[in-house]
Amino acid sequence: MGASSWPSPAELCAVKKKVAEMSGTEVGNVRVVVSPYRICPLGAHIDHQGGIVSAMTINKGILLGFVLSTDTQVLLRSGQFKGDVKFRVDEEQQPRNCKPVQEKRSSDSDWGCYARGALYALQKKGYHINKGIVGFISGSEGLDSSGLSSSAAVGIAYLLALENANSLSISPTENIELDKVIENAYLGLRNGILDQSAILLSKHGYLTLMNCKTKEHSLIRSSMLLGHKGSEGVKEHKILLAFSGIRHCLKDNPGYNCRVAECQEAARLLINASGAESLDPRLCEGLSSLSCLFQHILMTNLSKRAEHYFSENKRVIQGVKAWTSGNLVEFGKLITASGLSSIQNYECGCEPMIQLYEILTKAPGVFGARFSGAGFRGCCLAFVDAAQADDAASFVQKEYSKLQPELASQVPEGRVVLICEAGDFARVL
Ligand code: GLA
Repeated sequence: MGASSWPSPAELCAVKKKVAEMSGTEVGNVRVVVSPYRICPLGAHIDHQGGIVSAMTINKGILLGFVLSTDTQVLLRSGQFKGDVKFRVDEEQQPRNCKPVQEKRSSDSDWGCYARGALYALQKKGYHINKGIVGFISGSEGLDSSGLSSSAAVGIAYLLALENANSLSISPTENIELDKVIENAYLGLRNGILDQSAILLSKHGYLTLMNCKTKEHSLIRSSMLLGHKGSEGVKEHKILLAFSGIRHCLKDNPGYNCRVAECQEAARLLINASGAESLDPRLCEGLSSLSCLFQHILMTNLSKRAEHYFSENKRVIQGVKAWTSGNLVEFGKLITASGLSSIQNYECGCEPMIQLYEILTKAPGVFGARFSGAGFRGCCLAFVDAAQADDAASFVQKEYSKLQPELASQVPEGRVVLICEAGDFARVL
């Protein structure tokens, strides 16, 4: 199994040239942070409850080219967003939610909030940052706000660039916590650590398994990739991403935080019922046996959230077995079941995303499909037999355009479905 095919030399060169132009320096002085997007085949919506999640990166993502500035100034430009972002690393950053609404809505330059958030996180954890950067950031075309965790990929890119510029050597584990500060404390999203763990820990050719309670992780090789025959035979796979055309930002959608609050309320009721009130109100502290026993104390929607948590944890464990033995058929069935539980028990998603999910499950060669990310917008993912990936892509494109012609037309020509491969971890080149 070779390395990830992304980024290509041409992509790296394009980013380096932009930074060289911006800073008046040689292309050879430009460093580049490579920060891939992630997918989560199994373990959706349970990271914030201390569950066990599985993840991988893909061969697409964020590139941030940068050089050191001569002082504390940060100057950033983007391939996707207009306007320059400028601030100084010696300015003390405040959480974005503390700023007046007016200020939040004005200017650019909201895209600069992740860079400021990265500085905020480093300052908050006591790191001394005194060197700024001149940087150009660019994401793989059309994939921002797509449920591939572009926000965590961007946050991590800025963290790694600022750390590198300030000669700080910070472990992936600490960077997971720093990115959590950006998302939770700076941006006010109550999400877990799935995204940044996937981006910082994944390795090409492995499934990343993360226990979000203990923070222990492992990388799991599939016997299929080692060339051993699984019970369903050796099948090479590709990853399909199918885009709904819905692209509003997760941090601006109240649905996500509202579900997290419901999970916490379910956890609190279960924990109180077991007499262990002092525990953290997260579902990982509630006993799954109690969720049946005390169902009467959980209001219907809360018991559904608990059902999703406990059943999804089981699917992750079963999925690891299927992945390890190279049984993609079983792995895929679990992914589709996870998608169904997200719809029926977690009650996330929306009509177009559910239609896309259903189309994917019927496409030729698809082992399994689910929403990518939180499910409120963006794309669905599927694992597909490599030999049938093109047929599956045409099928999905055709069927989705029939059901949602307007949304499908908002996705750039020929990009309703992308065929991807696994990627590697975030790093500075
Ligand atoms: C978003 C969040 C993650 C996780 C997923 C759903 O990507 O940022 O923390 O909860 O949704 O699994």
